[in-house]
Formats: sequence, C-alpha cells, structure tokens
Amino acid sequence: MKTNNPKMDHIPVLKKQVLEFLKIKEGGTYADCTLGLGGHAKEILSQLQGKGKLLAFDRDQETLEQTKQHLAANFENFQTFHENYTNLPLVLRHLAIPQLDGCLLDLGVSSIQLDSPDRGFSFRLEGPLDMRMDIQQKTTAADLVNHLSGDDLIEIFRKYGEEKSARKIATAIVEHREKSRFQTTTDLANLIARVKGSGSGRIHPATQVFQALRIEVNQELTNLDKFLKEAIDLLAPGGRLAVISFHSLEDRVVKRTFQMESGKCICFRPRDLCTCDKRQEVKILTKKPIQPTENEVFENRRSRSAKLRVVEKKGAQKASEKNSTFSAETLDSGDGWNASSQAQLNSKQRFEATRIELNSWINSRLTRYELRPRIANKGVPPWSTFFSNN
Ligand SMILES: C[S@@+](CC[C@H](N)C(=O)[O-])C[C@H]1O[C@@H](n2cnc3c(N)ncnc32)[C@H](O)[C@@H]1O
Repeated sequence: MKTNNPKMDHIPVLKKQVLEFLKIKEGGTYADCTLGLGGHAKEILSQLQGKGKLLAFDRDQETLEQTKQHLAANFENFQTFHENYTNLPLVLRHLAIPQLDGCLLDLGVSSIQLDSPDRGFSFRLEGPLDMRMDIQQKTTAADLVNHLSGDDLIEIFRKYGEEKSARKIATAIVEHREKSRFQTTTDLANLIARVKGSGSGRIHPATQVFQALRIEVNQELTNLDKFLKEAIDLLAPGGRLAVISFHSLEDRVVKRTFQMESGKCICFRPRDLCTCDKRQEVKILTKKPIQPTENEVFENRRSRSAKLRVVEKKGAQKASEKNSTFSAETLDSGDGWNASSQAQLNSKQRFEATRIELNSWINSRLTRYELRPRIANKGVPPWSTFFSNN
C-alpha cells in the first residue's frame, strides 16, 4: 500500500514484535491509542482482514485527518477519534463496547510533529516554541518558559528531563526573559547551548530541556499513569495491552503498573507481613522489555530507545460484570482470588488504596519537589466531537 506521502509508508517501531504479541484475532475489537501516521494501525487492520474493528485515537487533529484519509483508501472497519487516549473508557461506553481484545500505546511524538518547524518540537528547526500535540489546548512551551517561576522551571527540567544544569538554565531563562520574551525554538536552544556549552556533540545540549517541556505541556506522564490501569480494566480475558516507551521515565511508569497489576507485592513489607492482598489482573508477557534489533536501529534511528512491554488480562469474567468497578463475584478460579464477595470487595478496596499510595510514592521519588498546578490547560475535551470525524 504505497502513497504519495513517504511519511505514511514508514515502518513502525518494533512492528513485528508488536504484532506477534497482540496476536490479532479474527473479528476482534482493538484500540490503537496513538494512531500517529498509522503504521501499526495499518498492520492491525491488515490482520483483521475486514472483520472486527479498530478504534484509533490521536490528540493531533492534523495527523489524525491525514492518517484517516490514508487508511480509508484500503480499510473500512476503523473509526478515528480526536481525543486524548485517557478518554478511552468514555468512548467505549458511548459505543457500548464492553471490552477490548487488544490495545496499543506507542508513546512520544510522530515524525510529522517532530519534522514540522511550525509545531515547535525540535530544537534543530526554527519555529514557534509551541510543542502542543493538540493545538486546541491553550498552554504552549513558550507560555511555560515566559511565565513560570524559576523554581517551577527547575522542577520541570529535573523531573522530566533529568537535567543536571537545571538551576543554571532556569536562572539564565529568567534573566533573559526580562529583556526579551522567548518566541522560537532556537531562542531557547541557543540560550541553553550558551549556558551548557556544546558538550561532546553527540547529544544536543537542549535535548533534555526540550523533552521536559514537551512532557509538561502535554502532561504525558500524568496521562500515561491514569490510562494504564483503566486500559487493563477494559481488556477482555486474554486481551493484551502493548506499550512502547521511549525514555526511562515512561518505561518506569509502565513497568511499575504492570508489576502491580500482575500481583507483585506492593506494600514493601517482608513476605509474612505483606498485607497488600495481591490479585493478579494480568500476566506479564515480557519479563524484560523488548528492544529493537541493531538492524532496526540502523534503518530507523528513532527506534533506538524504544522499549516494548506487554501484559495479558487474566481470568474469565462475565461480560455483565465488566462495567462495575468492584464486582461482587469472580468466576475465575485461576487467579487465586476466590474469597467471599464481601471479602473480595474489601480486598479490592485495600488494593486500590495501596496502589494510590504507591503511585504517590513513585511520584515523590521521581522528584523531591511537589508537583503543583501551574498554568492551567483550559482546553475542554470536545465531547461533542466523538462521532464528528466519522
Ligand atoms: C510515536 S507516534 C505513533 C506512531 C504510530 N504508532 C505509527 O506507527 O505511525 C505517537 C502519536 O501519539 C499521539 N499522542 C500522544 N499522546 C497522546 C494522548 N495522550 N492521546 C492521544 N494521542 C496521543 C501523538 O500525537 C502522536 O501522533
């Protein structure tokens, strides 16, 4: 399936491995939560062979429209949504789809976004300092750099960029913006290069600050954390969730959530004193993350830091139980969780409380600083657009 747009013909990251793990089944319902240029979606649709359905999400309307046109030339059994993937549960409820057979998350930015100077993601290309995946959102990277306090900038650069020179860079930004506001990607990249020096030359000195601003502008880790647990709840027994991450902060969130949902002790007490009432929601299919081969990295340099982790939903639940958060009965005897319904309710609630506690612990370990609400993103999810693009 060749097109006039060479970007649409790209080979998606870890294509073979993603398809092997998703194990697409005939007539199944799947979600590609980060459609991008549709590389993975195309492969999933090919394997569905016109049966079943693919729901495809992207926050970036421009990318979504282009990819939708491209896919429509060959496939019919898909529906696109200009939505944050965190709205997956709502979309499924609207469509009266109780469960998914598989779900894919390929995090990060698409090459359209990275290579378009006007989107402001790249420090190598001059353009407005923007970095919004969804341009209906209000806050841009320039807003953060021009308005946040020095302390908030330090926190973001450390937390999301692991930038060692965070303080020096934030101080220089605050001094610079008193004379002139930051408008372009190169305004900021040049200032960082002056503060840090050009380094070894292999990694651009602005790499970490740009990553940090992108994560903050798009609330990437917050979205990921919120999404993973909900997506697991939405999987049918035997359904699979595959996540490709591109940096250690993302991978850490994925790894921890998968461990928790697979029944690993999360209360950090000795085995005899463990009180976290482990339940196994999923089986981890990738003990170690899957990484691209040397060949793949050679052909696609952007795949070099990709890590794929996959889980499979356990059990055989009644479809009627799916939409209640705490079901009173579990049919599955294979997950070792067969106590009376009241005891199950309590243990699930305790598990949930421990999960929340652990999440806040992880967050506090990611940085020593509290994350405070900064410039609010006033963009309201356009619920009314659920079906408008179909
Ligand atoms: C790396 S690309 C996906 C590439 C795609 N798998 C392919 O093969 O072409 C990531 C895409 O996810 C989208 N995205 C990132 N975060 C999102 C979110 N929270 N909700 C919806 N889409 C998101 C980005 O706009 C981008 O287009």
